Amino acid sequence: MSSAQLYDSIGASYTVTRRTEPRIAARVWAALGDARTVLNVGAGTGSYEPPGRDVTAVEPSALMRAQRAAGAARCVAAVAERLPFEDESFDAAMAFSTVHHWQDPIAGLREMKRVALRVVVFTHASSDAGCRRRFWLTRDYLPEVADLVAGRPWLAEQARAIGAHTEPVLIPWDCADGFFEAYWRRPEAYLDDHVRRAVSVWARVGPDAEQRAVRSLRDDLASGRWAERNRDLVALDAAELGLRLLVA
Ligand SMILES: C[S@@+](CC[C@H](N)C(=O)[O-])C[C@H]1O[C@@H](n2cnc3c(N)ncnc32)[C@H](O)[C@@H]1O
Repeated sequence: MSSAQLYDSIGASYTVTRRTEPRIAARVWAALGDARTVLNVGAGTGSYEPPGRDVTAVEPSALMRAQRAAGAARCVAAVAERLPFEDESFDAAMAFSTVHHWQDPIAGLREMKRVALRVVVFTHASSDAGCRRRFWLTRDYLPEVADLVAGRPWLAEQARAIGAHTEPVLIPWDCADGFFEAYWRRPEAYLDDHVRRAVSVWARVGPDAEQRAVRSLRDDLASGRWAERNRDLVALDAAELGLRLLVA
């Protein structure tokens, strides 16, 4: 199943927990500089589209396109790997939390570079085992994430493909956008079906791994084992979990 098809099946409740996190949006919008025309690739429901600029969105999933707010930017049905635009059509192109879904991330990033003068991408370094170990959810409950990212291009390779530099993005403890890592200091959230349904990782690991991870986390929260293992997190307001901005 392609990722667009995946979102046509799992995207129905996306907006229940997925929305703009203002502190991360501010980083993305600052990195766009003074770009007036902006292409948002893998735009979904439009969470991170910058106000006050001329935005065009690209989104392959019909279900995601249908959930865009009335008055949201014009949205084209297409994929990152084949952007239907002339060279240098936009001042900037951005992509938020979508590159890991692309069939060919390098081709998609090169397409962004072709059609825009500046490229800003928010993504994660999950091909890196060190990053996966840093997050208790993948380390202790969902090691299957390693299989999902096996063979995917490393972050450094993605950055090299478009001549980007990378900037770490720390995730605030009360992150408003419910992506996979968002609840690192609120572990009970992962027991909630709504939280898991809006994150593709859970669909992709399959129901057996999902149920085992949830059961095991619930037990560890009840017994105090989670708190014991992760006591250092309580004092943190933001965590380094491998999320990055690529800026070219
Ligand atoms: C996690 S959602 C992120 C949506 C939005 N950027 C946001 O931050 O809310 C990932 C999106 O990438 C889209 N997608 C999947 N494959 C894609 C591709 N090859 N090119 C562009 N977008 C793709 C999905 O349909 C989905 O809407």
